[in-house]
Amino acid sequence: MCADTRAPWLKENMTTENPRPNRSDKPRRPHGGKPSFNRGAKPNTNHRRHRDEPEEKFIRRAIPDIDTPFTRMGIDARVAINLPGLGIETPSPIQEKSIPGIVEGRDLLGLAQTGTGKTAAFGLPMLTRLLNIGRKPEPKTCRALILAPTRELATQIAENIDAYAAGTPIRQFRVVGGASINVQIQRLERGVDVLIATPGRLIDLIERGAIDLSRTGYLVLDEADQMLDIGFIHALRRIAKMLPGERQTLLFSATMPKLMSELADSYLNDPLRVAVNPPGQAAAKIDQGVHFVSQGDKAALLAEYLSKHSGELAIVFGRTKHGSEKLAKLLDKWGYKVAAIHGNKSQGQRERALASFRAEETQVLVATDVAARGLDIPQVAHVYNYDLPNVPENYVHRIGRTARAGRDGRAIAFCGPAELGELRAIEKAMKAKIPVVGGEAPAEAPQPARGRGGPGGARPARKRPARRPSRAPKSAQQG
Ligand SMILES: Nc1ncnc2c1ncn2[C@@H]1O[C@H](COP(=O)(O)OP(=O)(O)OP(=O)(O)O)[C@@H](O)[C@H]1O
Ligand SMILES: [Mg+2]
Repeated sequence: MCADTRAPWLKENMTTENPRPNRSDKPRRPHGGKPSFNRGAKPNTNHRRHRDEPEEKFIRRAIPDIDTPFTRMGIDARVAINLPGLGIETPSPIQEKSIPGIVEGRDLLGLAQTGTGKTAAFGLPMLTRLLNIGRKPEPKTCRALILAPTRELATQIAENIDAYAAGTPIRQFRVVGGASINVQIQRLERGVDVLIATPGRLIDLIERGAIDLSRTGYLVLDEADQMLDIGFIHALRRIAKMLPGERQTLLFSATMPKLMSELADSYLNDPLRVAVNPPGQAAAKIDQGVHFVSQGDKAALLAEYLSKHSGELAIVFGRTKHGSEKLAKLLDKWGYKVAAIHGNKSQGQRERALASFRAEETQVLVATDVAARGLDIPQVAHVYNYDLPNVPENYVHRIGRTARAGRDGRAIAFCGPAELGELRAIEKAMKAKIPVVGGEAPAEAPQPARGRGGPGGARPARKRPARRPSRAPKSAQQG
């Protein structure tokens, strides 16, 4: 991808005034030159102390004297210094809008399109607060808890936190199912600064007395609307009850249906609400299209598309584990370098599939919704919705696996004759039509007569279930 395809927030240079006083007597050094280390400098105390935590400072390490757009928003220099090496130089809109409030200690609901840097939007200010306020974790406790819906996303967040916190004393630990619980219990003995977990495994650990959340001052729900949906809400309620009421809570997602939004409020205390775009929209640089095709012709059509861009990474989303596996085997037989990820795979297989795809040893990843949310593989150029998702918001997340951090991407949905209802529900949720790029749309079923579907009013093409199915991939619910 060439540089000029990137979003404006990647091109711009921030010129905001410096709201943070320079506490050292030396002039600030713009980042980019060799940083000096001002050993005498105190950590930033220019924000509200967290409600509950003691004032004791536990970190007395060197603080680089740097001046960057992130330090100007209050991010600790020990964290900010790691960002240019990660390609993070100019804050994205969600980062710009949410970081100052989080540094101040406010609860926050942050909504922004896929691939726009929400992980750093919660991760950087949370690390800043952990560095500047509080103390080392007690045994069997964590100071901050980040919950994510899938094991793979939890792993990715853990890697991001490690990268942001490199060189600081802050340590993260990730607990997910499919890995040895005894090893996790042992590690938690010492306590941990940041615990990143899937809800199922966290509940197991709580039940075994391995972790006590009563001293956890920060809670982050990534993919918050999914965490609040029926697949996770019971676990989340149990977990939230164990956390102190006086805590900072941060909720982030690219989508937030109204129903979830009301539920979200019950977890937040006087929150800031930050929405970069109207929530639920697809990332701006995704070139979307829908191709109408019979179910039986989908595999051949997919092969046709894939052969047009061999060598580029593509994710193909199927609805079921069995169907996805079958499709992966077929593509493999046809000579594609393909990996599959779904809930019927062992954790080792899932990790290997993702690793080979990230390393571009395989070009096609066939996946269920277990890979729909949060995964950041910048080289993914194409997403195919082989089957349309039955939860409309998941379409936005699925196609959001491409066009990340301002890159371009293409997303094609294959719509079978029986999937028209799903297509229209997706368009309704996004408040946008998906352009038709191939095939012929089946006739729309007439809408029911106003009021009730009597003899004069036909039923919609496909009746949607009265109660939404769980959005949580089964494997994730298991932890
Ligand atoms: N300020 C920035 N400048 C450039 N790149 C950035 C910036 N912030 C984050 N990134 C990069 O953008 C990519 C996407 O970030 P991230 O995974 O946090 O997105 P997201 O908003 O959480 O997406 P999703 O909704 O899919 O979870 C990552 O590769 C990250 O390193
Ligand atoms: Mg994310």
